[in-house]
Amino acid sequence: MNEQSPFHPGELAVQALANEADVAQRNSTVVSKHIIKGALAFIDQQSMTVLSSTDENNHIWTSVLFGEPGFIKARDDQHLLINRQKIIQQPSDPLWRNIEKNSQVGLVIIELSTRRRLRVNGNIKLLPNGQYEVTVAQAYPNCPKYIQRRQPNLSEDILTYQSSKPILGVELTMEQLELIARSDSFFVGSGVDNHHNDASYRGGDPGFVSVVNKGQLLIPDYKGNSMFNTLGNFASNAHAGLVFIDFESNKLLQLTGTAKVLWEQVDETNATGGTKRYWHFNVTSWQETILPPALNWTFFEYSPHNPKPQVLTPLSLMVSNIEQKSARIKLFKLKAKDGGILPAFEPGSHLPIEIKLSATNTVLRHYSITSSSHDNRFYEIAVQQEKLGEGGSNYMHKQLRLGQTIEGQSPVNDFPLSSPGKHHILIAGGIGITPILSMLRHLSQKNESYEIHYSVKSDGDLAFKDEIVKLAGESAHFYCSDGSNVAGVLPTRLDINSLFKHRNKSSHVYVCGPIKMITAVKDEADESNWQESHIHYESFGSSALETDQAVEVKLQKSGEVIVIDPKKTLLDGLLAANIKIPFECKRGECGMCVTEYVEGTVDHRDVYLTKDEKAHSLCLCVSRTKSKSITLNI
Ligand code: FES
Repeated sequence: MNEQSPFHPGELAVQALANEADVAQRNSTVVSKHIIKGALAFIDQQSMTVLSSTDENNHIWTSVLFGEPGFIKARDDQHLLINRQKIIQQPSDPLWRNIEKNSQVGLVIIELSTRRRLRVNGNIKLLPNGQYEVTVAQAYPNCPKYIQRRQPNLSEDILTYQSSKPILGVELTMEQLELIARSDSFFVGSGVDNHHNDASYRGGDPGFVSVVNKGQLLIPDYKGNSMFNTLGNFASNAHAGLVFIDFESNKLLQLTGTAKVLWEQVDETNATGGTKRYWHFNVTSWQETILPPALNWTFFEYSPHNPKPQVLTPLSLMVSNIEQKSARIKLFKLKAKDGGILPAFEPGSHLPIEIKLSATNTVLRHYSITSSSHDNRFYEIAVQQEKLGEGGSNYMHKQLRLGQTIEGQSPVNDFPLSSPGKHHILIAGGIGITPILSMLRHLSQKNESYEIHYSVKSDGDLAFKDEIVKLAGESAHFYCSDGSNVAGVLPTRLDINSLFKHRNKSSHVYVCGPIKMITAVKDEADESNWQESHIHYESFGSSALETDQAVEVKLQKSGEVIVIDPKKTLLDGLLAANIKIPFECKRGECGMCVTEYVEGTVDHRDVYLTKDEKAHSLCLCVSRTKSKSITLNI
């Protein structure tokens, strides 16, 4: 590790092998000796924390602590306190004896229900008052991408529970192998001696971990933040600890063993999400503990980002029809170039297609399929021309011609319909109608119960009105927020508040549109006590608005001032000025680019930050400013 980099040689080697060293360096600015201000209150609210520790034989163990909110607290931005009196007692957990000899710990403080997590590495010590104190060496928020949403429910008397003696073993039992094989998540601890331990979450669709034999597991490594803390630790020290939670029968299965990264593996079914990276975990020994029966879990949903094992088929598509659907929206009908049937898709899917922006610049763009998933003789995609965009939509509108061939891949679904049989409320804003239309076609075909609310700024943006009326009849509602007078369209903004007031809470809501609309739906659902698991959304990020102005960004720590063009996001403007800002999704969803501001008025356009957090932080990748200048705490 050098002064500029928070990474040790193992991490640097893995970043280089993955060809992601540059991204890792850029994202490393998120790693700090101080916990970011926005995370301090988050820590105090948590009822679950995972820690990795090292035993006297250098074996690493990973432990899960459950307790009353407040059992872990931030004393300040460099110290955490853990109150052992406020957690479920597991006296035989290896953590307690390991930290007597080796103070290195890695923590992941995680709220599974919101997919938020904070990683902290540091050293732990027992204070005279009986509490444990962790001194922070490194802290950073982590991407929420592959987290399955669920919530632990702890009853009040749970702290009086005394767990029975754990069972220990070497070879995994059939029951344990079955638990691992059906798991959708686990935690992994790793570490390098005299440096840091790490604790990290791993998740995927059930079955993402393969059991090779009674002593070996195979785990796919999905695309992440490029820092490779866990895999980098494996490169320097193969020891690792895994913990699986049996959410149904309340057991903790802790495994210790060694890990080895496997590069460039054959991955015909896309099980790694395209990285072709796996790691083997060889079990040295295990410990199984029963958790209190009064601890139970509410499951919400799987992450839509979990890679779906599927064969990604390259497609050669021919443009068989182009139709202008509104002033800015064109519909493209695409057929297989060889005239055959196309791969099947689900409602809500998008189609990745290659767009040649110049002779040397080909980009992959994803457009939602609007046509019926019951007919895969063709795909229809609708594209809105974004004058301030990066060129993809302009190419589609101005250069793509009838009969032309375009290369793509089989459709991918990150926005699936769920719970058939319930009432479905479909909400679309502007071009967000595209996946919603495919959902509507499916629900109509299946005779399901549904309604659709489609809101546009002006009548010139209204596409597909006739099709929607045909499919939904009186259950179709249209809104024009600029007050345009159009037959069958309410000259007003969609009133999300009254929509939620008058609907049955067992309904599922699907919303696609501008981030402001998604945030309004999420906030309203929250205030009306709807289950989070019934709210599904897909954002298209936030493109620049005609009204966006140039902004002067002042960097408080360096004193630098950068003027950012209104066509650029704050993130892109800062990156262009060589300011290192970590990012991942660029859609206001992952929280990687969250930055504190100390002056200025922000026009928040993300779906990540809470109302309280927005008072001092913003997502640079999507948010803009209402003031002419803003001062960032960097
Ligand atoms: S990069 Fe994901 S929220 Fe900004």
